[in-house]
Amino acid sequence: MKYINNKLTIDGISLDSLVKRYGTPLYCYSHNELRTNIINFKNNFKGINPLICFSVKSNSNKKILSEIKKFNIGADVVSKGELVKALKSGIKPQKIVFSGVGKTPPELKYAIEKNILLINVESKSELLLINKIAKLKKKVVNVGIRLNPDTDAKTIKKISTGNIENKFGVNEKEFLKLIEFSKLSKNLNVKCLSVHIGSQILDYRPYKKMLGVINKVIKKSNYKFEFIDLGGGMGIQYEKNSKKLNYKIYNNLIKKFLKNYDSKIIFEPGRSIIGSVGSLISKITYIKKTKNKIFVILDCAMNDFLRPALYGAKHEILPTVKNSKKIKKTTEFVGPICETTDTFLKLSKFQSIKEGDNIVILNTGAYGMSLSSNYNVRPMPIEILIKNRKSSVILKRQKLNEIT
Ligand code: LLP
Repeated sequence: MKYINNKLTIDGISLDSLVKRYGTPLYCYSHNELRTNIINFKNNFKGINPLICFSVKSNSNKKILSEIKKFNIGADVVSKGELVKALKSGIKPQKIVFSGVGKTPPELKYAIEKNILLINVESKSELLLINKIAKLKKKVVNVGIRLNPDTDAKTIKKISTGNIENKFGVNEKEFLKLIEFSKLSKNLNVKCLSVHIGSQILDYRPYKKMLGVINKVIKKSNYKFEFIDLGGGMGIQYEKNSKKLNYKIYNNLIKKFLKNYDSKIIFEPGRSIIGSVGSLISKITYIKKTKNKIFVILDCAMNDFLRPALYGAKHEILPTVKNSKKIKKTTEFVGPICETTDTFLKLSKFQSIKEGDNIVILNTGAYGMSLSSNYNVRPMPIEILIKNRKSSVILKRQKLNEIT
């Protein structure tokens, strides 16, 4: 994304022209950026040759999934809905892993019927249920057992998953018991040890600690795992000058770890693949001046993009047309919903803007549209993809009569 003659463009197309064509709020994705992220991700883990399973929860647009699939990438799903979408997008069952603490019997039956690569089990009850279904269906089901490594991911608490207080995975003792139980079953084949300690991780040290814990547990289990699923969580730069994850160190740590084992690594990245690919374009409905602040009231809201309201996440905002005049007061970009948390960003310096102008919220490709809702009976935004300098609709704007 760059300014050409003061107009903000994505892959050469001006954002204002997209607004004219498609309206706002508008999620816009760049295929160029997607390709770059995937190539970078693969390069970052050179020498490991991992199976990459894109985390569908971060963005479940079917066209996006089918584009990702073309790079030989599979899927990490957490519901039957995500599994159906991944399959409909052409992703092969042999490249799909299914995680989640609460997979229901119908979800497990469906996954077993589809012969997916792995069901990553998160409790004894789940393993018993899989065993029962597998027996009835006279099948051998490939499973992973998710270990809770009790590792602090040093990220936002609300998106940490690897502490023992979190609901995810099982502790070491239970993990070893589940392996022993599976050995006795003709219908279970434990192929994988899986972990996922959290999201938006920018420090390699939690990963280092996690690998240390896995190493110890594998030794104790004395079991040969065909796969080690390290989850996702690799963070991206939401703010200029923020820390960057040191992939080189993480890659070297994994290589060192693999010297002891003949296992294939699986990654489940979401944000690091799709986060920077998407932008949310919105129109300024009103500008409201108060004594201390200027509120810029947008036509997108927390239902369209929830991260700032839910996690206090900060996403850069840019004007679609640049000028050199500055607003002197603090400017707060807010949505129209009757909730104080329906606010996006507060800035002490922003350029002068007026009602009817457009702005763009950056890095909204991951957990943007996928976390959106119809709160306040607001239709969900349109999604478009820019590929080869052409834009096309990849999800139509929801119509009011579809939700009223
Ligand atoms: N694998 C598992 C088992 C997960 O639970 C997650 C994310 C991922 C992979 C992908 O993580 P990623 O590479 O995208 O960090 N809504 C929050 C993020 C929640 C992440 C939940 N699990 C946000 O907007 O920051």
